[in-house]
Amino acid sequence: MSRPASSIALLRRAFAPAVIGWQREHGRHDLPWQRSREPYRVWLSEIMLQQTQVSTVLAYYERFLQRFPDVHALARASHDEVMAAWSGLGYYSRARHLHRCAQVVVAEHGGQFPRTAQALAELPGIGRSTAAAIAAFCFGERAAILDGNVKRVLTRVLGFGEDLAQARHERALWDEATALLPAHDMATYTQGLMDLGATVCTARSPRCAQCPVRTWCAAHAQGRPEAYPVRSRRLRRGRREHWWLWLEHEGRVWLQPRPAGGVWAGLHSLPEYDSEAALRADWPGPLIAWPSISHALTHFDWLLHPRQCVLHGPQPQPRGPGQWVAYEALDDWGLPAPLRKLLALRSAP
Ligand code: ADE
Repeated sequence: MSRPASSIALLRRAFAPAVIGWQREHGRHDLPWQRSREPYRVWLSEIMLQQTQVSTVLAYYERFLQRFPDVHALARASHDEVMAAWSGLGYYSRARHLHRCAQVVVAEHGGQFPRTAQALAELPGIGRSTAAAIAAFCFGERAAILDGNVKRVLTRVLGFGEDLAQARHERALWDEATALLPAHDMATYTQGLMDLGATVCTARSPRCAQCPVRTWCAAHAQGRPEAYPVRSRRLRRGRREHWWLWLEHEGRVWLQPRPAGGVWAGLHSLPEYDSEAALRADWPGPLIAWPSISHALTHFDWLLHPRQCVLHGPQPQPRGPGQWVAYEALDDWGLPAPLRKLLALRSAP
């Protein structure tokens, strides 16, 4: 880093008070998980907010809490119940870890979440940053967070131009994040950093004029905030294409469990084929082609071609694991987002 030591010392003194003052006046105060310091509620919100925007989480959070009001209720639930409540939020390994974490908290901690970031980070699905956020919000612990938004804020302020894909550089940024922590007001500071990253120090077109730390911001001084964080390994997005079979028999649809370890493991979906010919080889009868759906995942875009096949007569038994599910019951199943899209299209007038 090319900042002189004196300017780093100034930044370390000024940064946290500026973030805290700004959060009190301009930050977010009305999010449902901010109404409680109860670890179960805070933990749930932090897991839901990993890689998912606040606006999306809002639609799920209260509903999930109504269904599973405490860690005991969640630990007792079946895997399918948890997946159904998570269905549509994406990144389903989070739901599997969430369920497992609740079971560990009940079995090994008597239903109480541990009270330090270090102990929280031992639990399934809780990484270092999430553990720090929970510990700061619930217990006021001085522990640094460093999620994607905060990496952006800090690399810009510090002018941290190293490649975060390398572990040693990421470790160095963790050290910087720790050096910037305030002595008090950890909950407000932590929320302030998150709010700053989400609303002011955005990835594109940051609102530097509204930023409480612009005076000390290296990237702002250089006039190129969008140059940070530096990333050498760019993700190349792939493309996939599959054919989905909507197999229907007397008001019921054939659902299959998704293969373990693949996309949407733990959810249920339609039988999937690599080509129309492969689907036809299994189901030679009349098919109706529905409009294709495209769905973006982190690493690739997926083009799905649904084909409807209506069966009559005695109940058929397609090959492989699966079950017939009544249309009205489909809402109770954990289904991937594009299948929900398909259902919405089908039920639209
Ligand atoms: N993103 C991650 N945690 C958050 C929180 N507590 N509030 C708003 N956005 C967040």
